[in-house]
Amino acid sequence: MARDFSTVGVIGLGTMGAGIVEVFARNGLSVVAVEADAAGLEKGKGVLQHSTERAVSRGKLTAEDQAALHVRIRFTADLADLAECDLVVEAVPEHLDLKRQIFARLDEIVKPDAILATNTSSLSVTEISVATHNPRRVVGMHFFNPAPVLKFVEVIRTVVTEDEVVDDVKALAARIGKMPVVVGDKAGFIANALLFGYLNHAVSMFESRYATREDIDAAMQLGCGLPMGPLALMDLIGLYTAYEILDTMYKQGRDRLHAPSPIIKQMVTAGLRGRKSGQCFYKYAEAGSSAVVPDNLTPTAEPATGSARPVRSVGAVGS
Ligand code: CAA
Repeated sequence: MARDFSTVGVIGLGTMGAGIVEVFARNGLSVVAVEADAAGLEKGKGVLQHSTERAVSRGKLTAEDQAALHVRIRFTADLADLAECDLVVEAVPEHLDLKRQIFARLDEIVKPDAILATNTSSLSVTEISVATHNPRRVVGMHFFNPAPVLKFVEVIRTVVTEDEVVDDVKALAARIGKMPVVVGDKAGFIANALLFGYLNHAVSMFESRYATREDIDAAMQLGCGLPMGPLALMDLIGLYTAYEILDTMYKQGRDRLHAPSPIIKQMVTAGLRGRKSGQCFYKYAEAGSSAVVPDNLTPTAEPATGSARPVRSVGAVGS
């Protein structure tokens, strides 16, 4: 019989984790939201509050539903509080060892028929699953950023994931308003395997000064109708995450398309990590903001050429 999910857990309340919490709670599920410590919990609460306020201001959520949503979430720094969850989605940073440690602990905490899912973007779900005693109940559940807005979820099936587990996670994804697609455990799955070669190419154009960041982004935003340009999207995804995804795909597939452009690692090391840090390919009004401000590459809002610069607003969700 199909599982009836009523309480789910989410581990890690960064951009993705907090977005996943919002999606579940908004769709009537009780959520146990876990972070490592009090500071992480406060940060995660802030992301959630900001996002739901935005949804209210944009008419996507009523104030009553916003209040009800928050009541459904229990914040904790103790993994043991996940004991009653029917499903736990892990969304911590992309470190295999960290994820394996968490799954090994979860295995001892949750009920025998609970499903364990990872939101990894490119790490091997199989390698994570074998940290548990029962890899058959482990699956990938890969959301897209921003999770409350984007309607796609990749459900990653390993060679041992039980059919029922895949079917139940697919049904849950549909229940929370996403289109689920089942895919095998190959780095990048579908979307990132297609997306990251393109993003990496855009970075190398910028790195070699073939074109300015604004022109690269305008080409894809205005010339190809994408919601945002590739460098603005790198800023949204975050350079550390992007580097890890590319590096994993490169190591697995040896396709030079995925060999991370050197500047990505350099920027990560220098602290230019994305919107989150307030500066990356673009400079933002503050850490976490989506408002691009002038910097030394483009000192004025309207460049001297007078040409239209369409990417001053690079996607406001999560600002
Ligand atoms: N809940 C529901 N809806 C919300 C919301 C929330 N919390 N916050 C905002 N929205 C809605 C807004 O109301 C708006 O809807 P309408 O268009 O119907 O008015 C929509 O979301 C967009 O919001 P904004 O208008 O504020 O922002 P925008 O128009 O500038 O779009 C964007 C921002 C959604 C980020 C858009 O630019 C976009 O889709 N960009 C592409 C993002 C992308 O490619 N993501 C994938 C990254 S790869 C990944 O995630 C995988 C990985 O592993 C790294």
